[in-house]
Amino acid sequence: MDSPHFPSFASLRVLLFGFWVIALFPEFVVSITRHYTFNVEYLNVTRLCHTRNILSVNGKFPGPRLVAREGDRVVVKVVNHVSNNVTIHWHGIRQITSGWADGPAYVTQCPIQTNQSYTYNFTIVEQRGTLLWHAHISWLRATIYGPIIILPKHNESYPFQKPYKEIPILFGEWFNVDPEAVISQALQTGGGPNVSDAYTINGLPGPLYNCSSKGTKPSLLTLDLENII
Ligand SMILES: *[C@@H]1O[C@H](CO)[C@@H](O)[C@H](O)[C@H]1NC(C)=O
Ligand SMILES: *[C@@H]1O[C@H](CO)[C@@H](O)[C@H](O)[C@H]1NC(C)=O
Ligand SMILES: *[C@@H]1O[C@H](CO)[C@@H](O)[C@H](O)[C@H]1NC(C)=O
Ligand SMILES: *[C@@H]1O[C@H](CO)[C@@H](O)[C@H](O)[C@H]1NC(C)=O
Ligand SMILES: *[C@@H]1O[C@H](CO)[C@@H](O)[C@H](O)[C@H]1NC(C)=O
Ligand SMILES: *[C@@H]1O[C@H](CO)[C@@H](O)[C@H](O)[C@H]1NC(C)=O
Ligand SMILES: *[C@@H]1O[C@H](CO)[C@@H](O)[C@H](O)[C@H]1NC(C)=O
Repeated sequence: MDSPHFPSFASLRVLLFGFWVIALFPEFVVSITRHYTFNVEYLNVTRLCHTRNILSVNGKFPGPRLVAREGDRVVVKVVNHVSNNVTIHWHGIRQITSGWADGPAYVTQCPIQTNQSYTYNFTIVEQRGTLLWHAHISWLRATIYGPIIILPKHNESYPFQKPYKEIPILFGEWFNVDPEAVISQALQTGGGPNVSDAYTINGLPGPLYNCSSKGTKPSLLTLDLENII
């Protein structure tokens, strides 16, 4: 017959085993959950002397950087404040047992509709480096994108020397018209979509385009990663 003390002895053993696991693999202790809120909202942006009311995340173009360490859980609440349906894809993140956090609209989820939100929840497993997040429905990725920076675990390193400075470089394209009009016209005519008006680096066209700098604000993306927990 079971002694009433037996269950507490069993849970003590589980507890001791837990301590043993933590002592053997200290990195288990330092994996944390990083919470982000991505508000999809309108933003007036001027490029090539054309001002457009673009779709952005948190009023930033390019969007905010997502920083985490290998092994961390990332929880991103995406709130849709615009009239388009939207989803966000974490490009290059291996979604291990979290496929529903991957983001392609109508593939792993229904899109997030106006005034609705969806919380993406995934763990970064055995990956470090710089990746990209972007919208994954129609052509909303034309303006909804930003960097994912995965730092190594504490006291671990990248497989190369520590750089003097780290600056994410995001390549993109700027359209003087609404990119949704471009793709919708292409789908209606069956022809190829119109080409963009400029290639961009960190949201800015190079100096060789006409009117490349008027009305643009340089975005300083230099990373200060020293103080990341
Ligand atoms: C963008 O500019 C238009 C016209 O100036 C203005 O009505 C609108 O409120 C602006 N939108 C944002 C999000 O600032
Ligand atoms: C948004 O998605 C819903 C559900 O898939 C669909 O019924 C609706 O037409 C879509 N709205 C727009 C503006 O595409
Ligand atoms: C979204 O919320 C705004 C502000 O509350 C409201 O004016 C608008 O009608 C809502 N739109 C939809 C499609 O629910
Ligand atoms: C994220 O997923 C984990 C594992 O399924 C769960 O324990 C946690 O509550 C989730 N967090 C949120 C904010 O949904
Ligand atoms: C990293 O290593 C240093 C020196 O060995 C140690 O003091 C510190 O606690 C370690 N940090 C973590 C998070 O393991
Ligand atoms: C695409 O380019 C053609 C030819 O320049 C132009 O007539 C058309 O308006 C453009 N479409 C869009 C959506 O801007
Ligand atoms: C810039 O504008 C000038 C004059 O309108 C034109 O000749 C030139 O081709 C344009 N350059 C580019 C890169 O569009």
